[in-house]
This record gives sequence, C-alpha cells and structure tokens, in this order.
Amino acid sequence: MSWNFEELQQQAEQESTSISDARALEEFRIKYLGKKGLVAEIYASLPQLSKEEKPAVGKGANDLRNTVSRIIEEKKTAIKQKEKQSSKRFLDVTMPGVALEAGHQHLITQTIEEICGLFERLGFVIQDGPEMETEFNNFSALNIPEDHPSRDGFDTFYLDAQDPTDKTKKLLLRSHTSPGQIRIMKNNKPPLAVIIPGRVYRPDAVDASHSFMFHQIEGLLVDKDVKFSDLKGLLTAFCQRFFGRDIKMRFRPHFFPFTEPSAEVDISWAKGKKDWLEIMGCGMVHPKVFEAAGYPKGKYTGLAFGLGVERIAMLKHGITDIRNFYENDKRFLEQF
Ligand code: PHE
Repeated sequence: MSWNFEELQQQAEQESTSISDARALEEFRIKYLGKKGLVAEIYASLPQLSKEEKPAVGKGANDLRNTVSRIIEEKKTAIKQKEKQSSKRFLDVTMPGVALEAGHQHLITQTIEEICGLFERLGFVIQDGPEMETEFNNFSALNIPEDHPSRDGFDTFYLDAQDPTDKTKKLLLRSHTSPGQIRIMKNNKPPLAVIIPGRVYRPDAVDASHSFMFHQIEGLLVDKDVKFSDLKGLLTAFCQRFFGRDIKMRFRPHFFPFTEPSAEVDISWAKGKKDWLEIMGCGMVHPKVFEAAGYPKGKYTGLAFGLGVERIAMLKHGITDIRNFYENDKRFLEQF
C-alpha cells in the first residue's frame, strides 16, 4: 500500500477549517490519531514494507501525526477563546447596569381606590359585581321597561350566551354598575351601605369623551328612614373631601327609572371657570327596585348613586381625552 503524504497533509488542513466546536475536533482527532485512525493504520503497515520503503513511510506518518497534533492544539485554543468571549457577553461585570423602573398604579386604579377609601371611612363596604350580567339585573329589576332605548343592541353589548336563569334571554356586558344594587339586596338584609366599583360597557363610538369600556362606582345605602337630605349630605361630604372644600355643587332634577326622585350632581370646580360639570347620577331607591329584590313593601328606604371614574379623573387632573387612559403611553401615565 502506498500513501500520498502530501495529499494527506493537505486533506487534514482542509478538513480542519470547518471545525468550530469541541465535538467536531474530537471526531477529527479520532479519524487521524485514534486507535484505528489513519496514522495507526500507516504504522501497522510498516512491517510489510521493504527496507527501502520503510523510512519514507515512517517519516510521512510522523509528519502527518505532528501536523494533526498541531492543528488540534491550535483549534483547542481557538474554541476556548470563542467560548470565553460568548460567555463574556452574558456577564460583563464592567457594563453599566440597567436600572429597573419602579411602576405605580394606573390613574384609574388610583382614583377608584381614593374614592372607595373615602366612602369606606364613611362606613361603606366595598363589593364586587360581575361584568357579565343578566337582563333582569341590568334592566328589569331596575325598573327599566322592555322598550327602553338603552336595552337596544346599539346601546348594550349582548353576549352570545344564554341566561341560565331565563332561557329566553341572553347574557350581556353590564352597561352600568347599578345591577350590583340588585345582587347586594337579593343576598343581604338592610341596613346596607355598599360601594361597587368596576368596568362597564357600552357600544359607543370611541372619541375624546366616549369609550366602549369605562369605570363606574355605584353607591347604595338602605335602611329605615333614609331621606333625600341624607343623600345630599353624603354626596356633599364626598365631593368636599375629593375635590376640596371650596367646591360648588348643585343637585339638578333628572330621571332614572330606578330612583325617585332622581338628580344629577354638577360641580363647579375649575378655578375661574363658571361652567357646571356633571359628575354623577343619584336618587332615592325606587319602590319597584325593592320589590324586584324581594324586600317587603314600604319597609325600607334607600339612596343610590353612580359616578363615572374616568370623568371624575379627567375633571380633577385636567385631562381632555379619555383615550389617554387606555393607550398606555408612559409619558402620560408617569404624570400621575
Ligand atoms: N346607573 C346610572 C348611569 O349609569 C347612574 C345612577 C346610579 C343613577 C344610581 C342613579 C342611581 O347613568
């Protein structure tokens, strides 16, 4: 057997160029220097060679072994270096640190907590209600008649889900937090003083003052002999604490099917400005609502109110576009 050592050397050099990791290097080593490798094979052939041939083949094998050994050493160093560099990228202790930014509550959450906190101090209990509601709780029990425009699909999001308590009806996304009044009254006996904050939904076209989702806070107080003066006193105390003592307020007669009498509360607050701004609806709980909740006729009286969180936050902080609340632009959020 004859060997072309020049070619073998070249072949080894050529093969080594594609070696980039320890595994490929080991395969390369085994191929040439392993027990059954090429160099061993050449050495094993020596005894069969003539005296004249032996020295050249022996030298060729030695040279090949040396070349392969050198390549392996070089590659080992190169691979180590490469590993070092890539691990350096993960842990460069000299790199300036990236400071974690401290977040904070969204202005809507802050406003809800502030308002709920004020009512809590006045003795109210905070309660939750589901965003998915029945037509009964959202409308019928609140004395909102079947043909009332707010029941229309244009004003309420109906879900593609059957109401388990009335198979002829579909569930909906509550359009106000008032159905919370029904849930509370159905499950509790007066005296009651509850606050129900949460999201509500209306299929309004989105603009600077409308969103298809916004937040309301409902208030309900039921006992014997609750009077309209209690409602006025309570809401005045709230507004003075929330907006400041110099706030001006007025109760403007209004209509809600679930309260009688009903009013809207306006405030005049922005210093220098004389405009009245509406901040909530309120009134004395309608007897039909007590009836729907299963309370005995004429036994209790109550007051209720519902305020829009976005609206109040916009008034308090001079925000002019409701969409700012939902866009999650840090430049806006960081200001509060
Ligand atoms: N639910 C009414 C609304 O969304 C507000 C309201 C609540 C009015 C309670 C009176 C009493 O406009």
